[in-house]
Amino acid sequence: MGDRLRRLEECNRVVSDEVEPIAWLPGYPAELTEQAFLDDGTPVVFRAIHPDDAARVERLFHRLSPQARYMRFFTSIARPSASMIRYLVTLDYVDRLAIVAEIRGEIVGVARYDRLAAVAPPAVPMDPAEAEAAVVVEDAWQGRGIATRLLWRLSSAAVNRGVHTFTATILAQNRAMMRLLTVLGENMSTELSGGEYTVKLRLAGAPPPRAEQDAPGDSAHP
Ligand SMILES: CC(C)(COP(=O)(O)OP(=O)(O)OC[C@H]1O[C@@H](n2cnc3c(N)ncnc32)[C@H](O)[C@@H]1OP(=O)(O)O)[C@@H](O)C(=O)NCCC(=O)NCCS
Repeated sequence: MGDRLRRLEECNRVVSDEVEPIAWLPGYPAELTEQAFLDDGTPVVFRAIHPDDAARVERLFHRLSPQARYMRFFTSIARPSASMIRYLVTLDYVDRLAIVAEIRGEIVGVARYDRLAAVAPPAVPMDPAEAEAAVVVEDAWQGRGIATRLLWRLSSAAVNRGVHTFTATILAQNRAMMRLLTVLGENMSTELSGGEYTVKLRLAGAPPPRAEQDAPGDSAHP
């Protein structure tokens, strides 16, 4: 864990019993729910996304600046479709997981991963230990450590679910995101093509790659 993250975690103590319970859903990882505080004392709840979050996610989308929207979704669409929102909030919490940061009942940031083997067409062989990660934080709440904390929670949950490598597609000018990813692990490889970086990052806490090679028959799923 980097110094910056350690400092963040030390001054944000977990008080999970103060968090409002969310509607019961089979498989919902309630253990990922934590209440923390930003440096200025603002309470923020980190928790897994829930299908009931559809309206909150849609409102977040509308509050994003066109630039943030483009950097996250690579599109300048003004209005997300109902099916897109449904896709974003309906997850299995193993192959697809999203963690939100909620402040005063509104979602201000989301970090997610999608295991490539689960979302790619079955004919395309994919490493079950690799997942595509993405994050967005509402412009008004940026620069306060929210993405750092979201990504750290997401990567730790990912490792617990057999995901060892995050991949991400990042616009070449998105230096903030490149810096954020370096906190999450080591052995980051980057490839630049057409103004976009494809980044691969071995997550902290993941077993060494050799262990995967030595046990090819083992499933990466829990
Ligand atoms: C990239 C993005 C997710 C960063 O979110 P964020 O919440 O502002 O990120 P953080 O606050 O954790 O870190 C950003 C910077 O703020 C700094 N920072 C400021 N106050 C901080 C605090 N209290 N605690 C920790 N870091 C703080 C961090 O050190 C970091 O500095 P750096 O850029 O020099 O490394 C956000 O800008 C965004 O949503 N962009 C649009 C979408 C996007 O680009 N997504 C990535 C592609 S999927």
